[in-house]
Amino acid sequence: MPVDISAHYTLPSYPVNIEKLRRRAQWFMDRLEVGEQTVSILLTDDAEMSSFNSQYRGKEGPTNVLSFPLFEATEEFPFSDLPIDELGDIIISLDTALREALELGQPFPYRLNWLIVHGLLHLLGMDHERGEQEALEMYDKEQELLTRFEHYRRNQMTHLAINVDHIATIRQARGTTEPDPVTAAAMCELAGAEGIVIHLREDRRHIQDRDVHILRKTIKTKMNLEMGATEEMIAIAQEVIPDLVTLVPEKRQELTTEGGLDVIGQKQKIAEAIKNLGEKGIPVSLFVDPDLEQIRVSHEIGATFVEIHTGRYCDAETEDEQEQEYNLIVDAANEAYQLGLRVNAGHGLDYRNTARIAALETIEELSIGHSVISRAAYVGIDQAVREMLDIIRQAQNSL
Ligand code: PXP
Repeated sequence: MPVDISAHYTLPSYPVNIEKLRRRAQWFMDRLEVGEQTVSILLTDDAEMSSFNSQYRGKEGPTNVLSFPLFEATEEFPFSDLPIDELGDIIISLDTALREALELGQPFPYRLNWLIVHGLLHLLGMDHERGEQEALEMYDKEQELLTRFEHYRRNQMTHLAINVDHIATIRQARGTTEPDPVTAAAMCELAGAEGIVIHLREDRRHIQDRDVHILRKTIKTKMNLEMGATEEMIAIAQEVIPDLVTLVPEKRQELTTEGGLDVIGQKQKIAEAIKNLGEKGIPVSLFVDPDLEQIRVSHEIGATFVEIHTGRYCDAETEDEQEQEYNLIVDAANEAYQLGLRVNAGHGLDYRNTARIAALETIEELSIGHSVISRAAYVGIDQAVREMLDIIRQAQNSL
């Protein structure tokens, strides 16, 4: 693992999300063209930092960051020429980082990013203490990297869109008029959901045409209509004009959508659907497995969004398997984001497994149905939505 992070300490008020920090450090290393090399980062407190500072620099008290390059670069022997794959160690005092952030009026995550960049530049041989010229060069490089990072980050928080199909499933079980997904959608919005998702299935097993038409008039946030790429569905979408159409594969016998779309195998048909919906100004999202090739082809044929299928991550039976699936989602979301696609994710997300996905900066919206509606049966829809929103917001505020 190129970036190895250990935490000897955590700040109670600013819990650090190690995985997110690792990805950030990796992002900066990639921009510095040392992404293949190894760096160890230790997060500690002022007490331990003071002892390192005294032991290695003969200075009293804590400091914000210490860097220990494995090799010292010199002018005649620049670091990049060294045939080694380890840059060295960075030690950061979280206590000092927080104090500085408060003094400078900077968000704590920004300060931590700055310390990582500062430490990395030291490892690469830059040193602001060698004179004004070098201090300026180092400052410029830090600013450049931090500005690029801010551009890279999505500038909006991950949204929660609630799928209300399951409310319609209960209604259809009795063939009566309640519970009504229209009422449920309004309640989800009142609780803070930023979008409503409905899947109009060919067999109309839950959502009915009447729901689609009424919801178009009542949804105040965004209407995401999931559907198969059939002629019938495209005609309905062209009439209703949802804010987004998500194309999904649909098999009659399945309990729920079982896998991602095979965009590669059905390239022509899906491209045609995107074009037909696009003529009415409807953006299209393709529900795909976390597969780089499916994502590249989705981009090639003009999708605006992809929705990354999180089902295998959610259903994983071992930690290793879940880790593997999670990494596929991270890579797929990054690839889509880099290509300029907008990225949603969903399927199987619940109160335990959503936080890690919500923490990904590349993902714009999570589409969640079953877990929230199930919980609503016990605690009410308002509370179930709010609890999920809390999980998403906390995941994003953790660093
Ligand atoms: N996204 C898509 C494309 C889906 O088909 C579904 C299931 O209807 C979801 C998200 C939501 O999945 P879940 O109900 O498991 O949260």
